[in-house]
Amino acid sequence: MLAYYNGKILLLEKIQISPFDRGLLFGDSIYEVIRCYNGKIFLFDAHLKRLKESLRKTNIPEPDLSNLENVISELLKQNKLINDFAAAYIQITRGNQFPRRHAYDDSITPNIFIYVEAFPPKYDEFTKGIKAGLEEDIRWMRCDIKSTLLLPNVLSQRKAKDEGYSEIIWYRNGIITEGTHTNIFFVKDGVVITPSLNNFILPGITRKQVLNICSDNQIATDERSISINEVYSFDEIFITSTINEITPVVEFDGKLINRGVPGEITGILQKEYQKLYV
Ligand code: PDD
Repeated sequence: MLAYYNGKILLLEKIQISPFDRGLLFGDSIYEVIRCYNGKIFLFDAHLKRLKESLRKTNIPEPDLSNLENVISELLKQNKLINDFAAAYIQITRGNQFPRRHAYDDSITPNIFIYVEAFPPKYDEFTKGIKAGLEEDIRWMRCDIKSTLLLPNVLSQRKAKDEGYSEIIWYRNGIITEGTHTNIFFVKDGVVITPSLNNFILPGITRKQVLNICSDNQIATDERSISINEVYSFDEIFITSTINEITPVVEFDGKLINRGVPGEITGILQKEYQKLYV
């Protein structure tokens, strides 16, 4: 596999990463995941904008990103993924710093790592739906930053797997936030409802697309806070992400949603979303 590291496309085995990379020592880094459908880098501008926002919010100096789209295209070509469904991972760490100190030096330069992998859409989950669990959100207070500080996500997602769930949905002070790697939506009486943007959730690119699709199709939306007490009163639930697209949740915290089948509005939104990339 060929990947990109600090200006060069190299065989993965040739990439040398310092043990003093602050990304390794402190999780001092940010990232993006972008979908590539048959060589088309989906919603690139929105991902680039969020990447720059993450850099700004963490005071990581912005490296030259003018070539980013070309690098991803080149990696897709060189890894023979141009005619496939793929995903690109972009990570920017603050840089290497020795000796290990919490406060960062201004003199260090960021390290950029990019790789692409084949990633077929999860059609089975799109059509049948998934089971989701519910847990308390124990993350920090800046979940709006797409940082690689993902230990709570890793632990919850592993627990989900062990307990037969595809995703865990979190709540904080009785209010639903998001999933370990997805945003969440609810439908009630034809209205599509999702938690408002704040520092407790990631401003998902797919979330925004869903809201745009609703507005283009005269489907009413409501961005507000959602209490855990009301989740079982909803007609439909679905999660969204770059990888999971729009995935129906048919069982939530052990209770069936919409009698255990994907909802009608979820289906309409899925069709409209797929039209954006096929
Ligand atoms: N996850 N919330 C969290 C915590 C996420 O990690 C993600 C994405 C989302 C959805 O964002 P988007 O629609 O922009 O992909 C919401 C990525 C895909 C990941 O960590 O692999």
